[in-house]
Amino acid sequence: MTMLLLRRCLSGKNYCRRFSTTQSHFSDRKGLVLGVFEKEGEEGHHLTETAAGFDQSTSGKLSELLKISGPSLKKGKSRLFYGLHEDFPCVAVVGLGKADTGVCGAENWDTSKENIRAAVSAGCRLLQDLEVKHVEVDGCGDAQSAAEGAALGLFAYDQLKTKKKTKVTTKLHGSADSTGWAKGVVYAEGQNLARLLMEGPANHITPTTFANIIEEKISSSAQQVAIHKRSVAWIEEQQMGAFLSVARGSEEPPLFLELHYNGSPDNTQAPLLLVGKGITFDSGGISLKPSQSMDAMRADMGGAATVCASVITAAALKLPVNLIGLAPLCENMPSGKATKPGDVVKAKNGKTIQVDNTDAEGRLILADALCYGHTLNPKAIVNVATLTGAMDVALGSAATGVFTNSDWLWEQLHKASVVTGDRVWRMPLFQHYTRQVTDSQLADLNNIGKYSRSGGACTAAAFLREFVTSPHWAHLDIAGVMSNKDEVPYLGKGMSGRPTRTLVEFAAGLAHGN
Ligand code: BES
Ligand code: MG
Ligand code: ZN
Repeated sequence: MTMLLLRRCLSGKNYCRRFSTTQSHFSDRKGLVLGVFEKEGEEGHHLTETAAGFDQSTSGKLSELLKISGPSLKKGKSRLFYGLHEDFPCVAVVGLGKADTGVCGAENWDTSKENIRAAVSAGCRLLQDLEVKHVEVDGCGDAQSAAEGAALGLFAYDQLKTKKKTKVTTKLHGSADSTGWAKGVVYAEGQNLARLLMEGPANHITPTTFANIIEEKISSSAQQVAIHKRSVAWIEEQQMGAFLSVARGSEEPPLFLELHYNGSPDNTQAPLLLVGKGITFDSGGISLKPSQSMDAMRADMGGAATVCASVITAAALKLPVNLIGLAPLCENMPSGKATKPGDVVKAKNGKTIQVDNTDAEGRLILADALCYGHTLNPKAIVNVATLTGAMDVALGSAATGVFTNSDWLWEQLHKASVVTGDRVWRMPLFQHYTRQVTDSQLADLNNIGKYSRSGGACTAAAFLREFVTSPHWAHLDIAGVMSNKDEVPYLGKGMSGRPTRTLVEFAAGLAHGN
């Protein structure tokens, strides 16, 4: 019977007209994401303020449908309703978990914020799959987190595919806390910029194109960020022998990128310096990596990407703080010119390094960048790097490892990460590890620890410390958080752009007088 009707309808005169009207209606459809909390110890939901308002406008139909459509919505789960409201033909109701959870001491994050990000992201993605182009979102009591969930959840790297995902525009439903919403969008867009750079293939994202993309981003948003693209000649002048020793194996010229944002009303204020590892492809060099998963090493510039994205985001937020971002950019490749295991190179500060493994290249380029960074008289230095596989072994993608000589910096970074949910965890800088990198047969330092595998993340940090004199320095090893499978529910699969939001929140904390 249905088939018959369908056939009649398809062959009928009305078909074309009806189809075309439905089509245009279809593509203009607006969607709505609404949040509901779990009820303490019983079935059923608590509607958010916005959801309750919407429910009223449907004369209680929403809550009625929620009741009869299945068991109560668990945290992060969503359900779709059609035809509830003239303006919103599709409504995604999302589970926010328990109300009023807040900061969790055991998890080191704000559970309510994380739940909102996850739920809103799931709702938005569901509507995106239905090709809904405009989505309004319930602020769920924390519009910034809702905006982050929406913008991070909808990100897709499909610029190199013919078939693209639906572009969805989002806005806050209602007018409550539009400032928070706008701020959340900027934070998420910052992280998405880092994701874009990290996900991009290495034949597209070279040192040169990386710098051009950053330059373009700054000029198109008319931001108060000064950019210097230092060429090989400058790098040589600076006597950055360690950086050059990594770059020399590749046909791609290296580039040293420098960004300055002066947002502080007091222009004598010493800047916060961010330094990011910018290996646009890490083959391992002569100490060649195994081919399995080598493609992931296109994201070995994650430090540079998150650092540059953070400076740009701080400028977009007009944070009253002075920031400098540095990114030594190059490829690590094997060739007739490449550095060989056992070679000795000299860093900018005069220290000699025996390069026993050319795959431990991140610490070499950072050594010179740190030496140069000190000449800019920063009040604190934070370097960010996909530095060691050992960091991934230690913490996985749960948190960025932080090695720091400063309790103050640790507290600031930790505080910021509790808010963003992009967590950090403190790691040791014992002399125990320093002894393993200062024991070299030919030079002052060896670029791999004496016991190579053991404590690999810690020996790498100890190596970097040999190039630091600042009393406030932190090294963030982001190798473990570089990519996401499904661990962070609001990020989807791919390169993560972590910990951009934490760096921005950290800079915001400094700006507001800490
Ligand atoms: N870029 C890698 C570290 C890495 C591994 C980042 C996996 C993200 C995911 C780094 O340059 C590297 O190769 N490190 C070596 C150091 C070793 C030779 C001492 C490593 O971790 O194996
Ligand atoms: Mg390497
Ligand atoms: Zn690397």
